[in-house]
Amino acid sequence: MSEVIAVVSHKGGTGKTSLVQNLAYEYGKSDPSSVLVVDFDPQSNLTAGSGLIPQDLNYTIFHGINQPKECEKGIVSGPYYDILPANLDLAIADQRFAGDKDRNDKLGKALSTISSRYRLIFIDSPPNLSFFAFNTLTAANQVIIPLQCQPYAYQAIDSTMKLVELVQEKNPNLSLKSIVLTMYDKRLSLSKSLKDITRRRFKTQVAKTVIPINVSIPEAILDHAPVGVYAPRSTGARAYKGLAKELKL
Ligand SMILES: Nc1ncnc2c1ncn2[C@@H]1O[C@H](COP(=O)(O)OP(=O)(O)O)[C@@H](O)[C@H]1O
Ligand SMILES: [Mg+2]
Repeated sequence: MSEVIAVVSHKGGTGKTSLVQNLAYEYGKSDPSSVLVVDFDPQSNLTAGSGLIPQDLNYTIFHGINQPKECEKGIVSGPYYDILPANLDLAIADQRFAGDKDRNDKLGKALSTISSRYRLIFIDSPPNLSFFAFNTLTAANQVIIPLQCQPYAYQAIDSTMKLVELVQEKNPNLSLKSIVLTMYDKRLSLSKSLKDITRRRFKTQVAKTVIPINVSIPEAILDHAPVGVYAPRSTGARAYKGLAKELKL
């Protein structure tokens, strides 16, 4: 059975897409066809960051949620992982399916047609507390919450956790895998304070590995590569590698 890992945060810019791309690389580099990433964000950053041109795609995850048997047509095989990409078509999904009884399980139904092929499936989601977040969490059995070391991001963790609890009522298979501190700046006492507060509050639910602020991470995106390929010796690449080892997915 595949593990389906949702990466969610109600706040934007917390490192969700980077986490999905770089964890998928760590787990997929030795067996790329065993790992799938799903871009469930109309902004399509994961799609573009993986080297695809969103507006040129004939099939995307939107086709899969519209018609589950079309889901497999969207899969693109890459050097480190397979991807189910997105483009702007996905932006209308919440309105398109608003009246459907199963509107929160559209992604789950789409992925159920292809999940047996994969050991790990990572879902990248937009900062959202409704359609996209519900679908992402309903389709998953584990959730990772990236927590950017900034006060607003810390505040957003409560609403993200509430959402996870809400979905758990319908999807009891869903469990919190980890809260991951991202963009940690060791020069700032703010980063250390937020790390301490988070660890005091969420204890072992917080990953020991912290993702530092590191310019190689955004630079790698311009190269359409995971940071582990672009700059394998960078602090960012080493952190994602350590995180993958710690999470043991
Ligand atoms: N650890 C980091 N250090 C420096 N920049 C980062 C780091 N993680 C992410 N970024 C950059 O910050 C921006 C937002 O990250 P991203 O992963 O896209 O967040 P989200 O998907 O939550 O919006 C991107 O430009 C990304 O390259
Ligand atoms: Mg993103």
